[in-house]
Amino acid sequence: MKDDAPRFLGSNLKMANGREATMALLDTAVELSATDERQFFFFPSMVFVAEAVDRVAGSDVVIGAQGCSVHHSGAFTGEVSASMLAEVGAQAVMVGHYERVLAGESLDSFVKQARRAGEMGLRVLFCLGEQSKAQDPHDATDLLRDIEFISAELHTPPWVIAYEPHWAIGEHGQRPQTSYVKSRLEALRNGLNERGWNSVPIVYGGSVDTGNALSLDPLASGLFVGRAAWTPEGLTAICEMTQRKEKE
Ligand code: PGA
Repeated sequence: MKDDAPRFLGSNLKMANGREATMALLDTAVELSATDERQFFFFPSMVFVAEAVDRVAGSDVVIGAQGCSVHHSGAFTGEVSASMLAEVGAQAVMVGHYERVLAGESLDSFVKQARRAGEMGLRVLFCLGEQSKAQDPHDATDLLRDIEFISAELHTPPWVIAYEPHWAIGEHGQRPQTSYVKSRLEALRNGLNERGWNSVPIVYGGSVDTGNALSLDPLASGLFVGRAAWTPEGLTAICEMTQRKEKE
């Protein structure tokens, strides 16, 4: 992990990449990460987390899970605890993703998962986003209401907040307008700062691709990409186009 990385580039692999595709993507990520100042992070399918951790061993690439149980341990069929994730070397857990909301999870459950993850020393990437476009993009009251709840429940702030407007996510999502995302991110940033979360980075996610990565990346502390970063070629393209060559 690059502990003081100012910027991030990551991908949620959802239930898309199988084993071979996941490992090939991670091999590329390890190569790219070696010469990139950014913190790379990936959330593969739960079943590949342990192998993914081994695959990136010796690099700075962070492997996380797409969620965890709200329970510590015990008779919870089908669930995976934060301690099990820590045991196999995962470093992070993503909570709050829109597709988990669609699966019936609530903010309360996300906060509990975040708490379990934090107790095990795992970093938490917390996704937040509005269902439909905000009337006034300069106003982030809706997102900050969630932040109020999260901050009251968690002792430590999340590692990263991913601003992911629900309407922009996935193949049925709408492409985001840069000006809209810019306003929302600014309003969210101000709100977080007022609440003392100045140091929590925000990344943007939702229909990021090679057509908009260059304009969206500078608006936040980086990008959280889905479909467009699931292949080595896709990841490389997004990575290279958004790489800042500080010394040039
Ligand atoms: P997408 O997914 O880039 O494919 O829209 C983003 C996400 O769900 O995080």
